[in-house]
Amino acid sequence: MSETRNGATPHALAVENVTSGYGPVTVLREVSVTVAQGEIVAILGSNGAGKSTLMKTIAGLLRPSAGRVLAYGREVSRLAPEKITSAGVMMVPEGRQLFGELSVADNLLLGAYLHKREREQNRKQLEIVYDLFPILKERLRQAAGGMSGGQQQMVAIARGLMARPRVLLLDEPSLGLAPQVIEQVFAALARLRELGTTVLIVEQNALQALDLADRAYVLERGRVTIEGAAGQLKDDPRVRAAYLGPRGEPATP
Ligand SMILES: Nc1ncnc2c1ncn2[C@@H]1O[C@H](COP(=O)(O)OP(=O)(O)OP(=O)(O)O)[C@@H](O)[C@H]1O
Ligand SMILES: [Mg+2]
Repeated sequence: MSETRNGATPHALAVENVTSGYGPVTVLREVSVTVAQGEIVAILGSNGAGKSTLMKTIAGLLRPSAGRVLAYGREVSRLAPEKITSAGVMMVPEGRQLFGELSVADNLLLGAYLHKREREQNRKQLEIVYDLFPILKERLRQAAGGMSGGQQQMVAIARGLMARPRVLLLDEPSLGLAPQVIEQVFAALARLRELGTTVLIVEQNALQALDLADRAYVLERGRVTIEGAAGQLKDDPRVRAAYLGPRGEPATP
């Protein structure tokens, strides 16, 4: 269903019964996920569950063999990735993929390439980005590749934001970061919600993701096995057993 219950406003994002994978290898099987405008939705799941495959399918890097993806009621799953970006859906990929040799400023500018003539708007967006990640303003001339892991993650999110996306897809933004830096990144994401950006976030860091998100889905071996309000999932014994420790701390592998 791409429409919300009252039938009036389409979801920001609707993944409908999507089956997807890599050539002959099917990874996702009939996956359905919705994200309402302004919502933060988390995707949880262990290594290899298909989380990145879901993100890549939404972003158009993989084409579903069945089902479809809609952004604001319009089917995007047959579009090229850059058209999906133009439709307002922007992915910050796992592993960041910055241009390490380029300065922070140039990485941010590249994020704004869709709007390169809209200087005034880009300037305003830069102010929003600096407000979220003040460190970036101090490091504009530094090569992105020379920043710490946490700072690089901030550059990656900031670059995605420069495209002024309506829906931001974040694949494991906390991967490899120190706890304190993770806090900073999540605090910035909470502020983003206040600015009205819709977010679909993949996280292994289940507790933090559930604290941030409005709703969440658990993917296991390519299928959605649990979905619900984030608070509800935090109390779900299956989620606690698999992704949270007995007192709510991350389960040790
Ligand atoms: N390019 C590829 N070609 C073939 N199979 C792939 C490819 N990329 C991923 N897979 C397989 O698809 C499955 C799901 O991978 P995916 O990257 O979506 O998992 P994930 O949930 O993001 O895991 P992680 O938490 O480790 O990032 C895995 O079995 C993986 O081996
Ligand atoms: Mg992944």
